[in-house]
Formats: sequence, C-alpha cells, structure tokens
Amino acid sequence: MKMISRRDFLKASAVVGAAAAMTACGGSSSSTAASSVASSTAASAAATNGSATVGVCIYQFADNFMTLYRADLEGYLKDMGYAVTIMDGKNDQNTQTEQINTFLQQGVDVLIINPVQTTSAQTIVDTVSPSGTPIVFINREPDKSVLDSYADKCCYVGADARQSGTYQGELILETETQGDINGDGVITYIMCKGDPENIDAQYRTEYSIKALEDAGKKVNCLYEYLDNWDQTTAQQDVANALSQYGDQIEVVFCNNDAMALGALQSIQQAGRTVGKDIYLVGVDALAEAVQDVLDGNMTGTVLNDDVGQATAAAEAAKLYVEGSAVEQYYWVDYVKVTKDNASEYVK
Ligand code: BGC
Repeated sequence: MKMISRRDFLKASAVVGAAAAMTACGGSSSSTAASSVASSTAASAAATNGSATVGVCIYQFADNFMTLYRADLEGYLKDMGYAVTIMDGKNDQNTQTEQINTFLQQGVDVLIINPVQTTSAQTIVDTVSPSGTPIVFINREPDKSVLDSYADKCCYVGADARQSGTYQGELILETETQGDINGDGVITYIMCKGDPENIDAQYRTEYSIKALEDAGKKVNCLYEYLDNWDQTTAQQDVANALSQYGDQIEVVFCNNDAMALGALQSIQQAGRTVGKDIYLVGVDALAEAVQDVLDGNMTGTVLNDDVGQATAAAEAAKLYVEGSAVEQYYWVDYVKVTKDNASEYVK
C-alpha cells in the first residue's frame, strides 16, 4: 500500500477547514479583528516575489504531535514560496529565546512560535516587538493580554482544548456501561494530564470530567499523573497505578495519544482488556492510536487537527507578509474519533 503523509491525506479537507477557520473566527467573542495592519514596503515586496523568510520555533522536535504539525507547516509555507527555517527548542526556553534572537538578527519577515513555556510568551513579545516582526503563536495559547500587548502584529492559531476535553468525556459516556464497569454508581479513573503549564492539559483534565458530571455521573479520581505528554513516562505510571489500584480503575484518561499508547502497553501487560474491563481515551488521532481505536484497543481518541492548524498558521503568516488584516485568534475544531468513524482517519 502506498504510504501518504498525513498532510496529503487531509489536505483537501484542511483547505476547506482552514478557509472556514480564517473567516469564522471573526464571529468569535474572543477574537478582535485587526482593523489596520501596518504594511511595510519590504513586506509587500517580499510577498510579491515570494521571497519572504519565515522563522519557525517548535518547543520540542521529540513531541509526536508537533512532529506532524511541523512537517505540515513546512510544506504549506514552502508551497507559498517562502524560505522556511525550523528550530528545535529542545524543551528549553533559554534555547528557544536564543533561536528567536538569531531569527531577528537574520531579519526574518514573520515568526511562528510554539513557546516552550506559555508563561514566557510576554517576554518573547517584548524581545520581538522592537523589530516590528509579526508573530503567529501556535499550539500553546498565551494569555490574551500578551496578544493585546502587540496588537495587529501578533495572533494565536489553535484549537479550543475545552472541546477536546468534552469529547473525551463523551467517548466514555457513549460506552455500554457509560464508564461504570463495576456498576457501583461511580466512574473511577486515573488521569494522565500532560505538561501542567499547558492550557491543553488543564482544560482536557477539567472538561473531560465536567462532561461526566454534567451527565449526572459521580466520579472518583484515584490519581492524576503529569507524564509531560510522554509515552514512556505514562507507561510506567499507568503500570504502577494498575498494580496499586487493580480493578478499581475503570477509565484511563490520557490527554494525548502518546501517553495513551504508553498506557495501552501497561494495560495489556497487566492482562486487562479495553472495552471489557477498562476504558482508555486519548487526544490527537496519531496514526497508531487511530489503528488501536479501530482494533478495539482504545475506546476512542479526538482528532487534534494538525493539518487544519498548520494551514491556518501558514495563512496567517501570509497575511502578515502581505500586510493584510489579521485576526487575533484562529480556531480549528477537534473531531471525536470512535470505532465507527476511525477508518476515515487511517493513513
Ligand atoms: C497535543 C499534545 C502535544 C502538545 C504540545 C497538544 O495539543 O495534544 O500531543 O504534546 O500539544 O504542546
């Protein structure tokens, strides 16, 4: 079978999705239309001859999801005729800050930044703003005050993590026992949270459980592990949890698929069976996780649309290069992935 990239696979739908994202956001209460964007002569000239340079800072190349995202982004920016350089922040804010400074010295036309620490976003803006270089923040949502402080020159492209959390909860509510395998009236779970500073980790943790409670369910959290989005760490923690709590655990919530894949290894090693005596959900719809959903090894996952987000980020960069108006926020929808629709997401 011919292997195709996730980008090629979803390209057609993403173009439609991104177009919607670029227009639909105007109606969002949190978005502020950029009424005027200063169009520098240099930027306009760059757009005309397609020679703009874009500097991309990714928080960490080793992240599975950001690996897909960055490949998409590179493809779209190159398709637009731009010169692209992508740097690995190696999960270290000082390293990333140095990379940003180097991009500024090189005089890039636009920066696309996936911050290592969301709390450093204001410092990043303060470093960049004297040069007037526009910034497209991606994946890790900074405070609105940060975007406001560099109005018309700074935007955020992402997905609303509350939606993904709600979908994780709904995936459990849609199971035969609605998450209560032992029928004691309580959904007993463990949570693999992800980087605690990341709003995706915070909202997914909160809204997955809120979905259960809003449906009138009682819940019992045995333990919340951080696991920093990492497969191996989650594998170890879930193995420990399974030996400590055993059958008490009815649901394993993982806030990304990397952690869910680690959790699945430990679930299988412990002789437990997803869909029978335990449930497991993730987020991202990584290829391996989608296959596990199809095979019944995961209860479900949630598509974190890297293609849609990369397309929107590239489009936003293009608007800056051209000196066109740019919104403050661009949102891309999540999609619930279950056994019923998973085949649509297999690559
Ligand atoms: C993804 C995670 C990823 C994180 C990086 C999240 O949106 O779901 O898989 O590790 O972004 O910031």
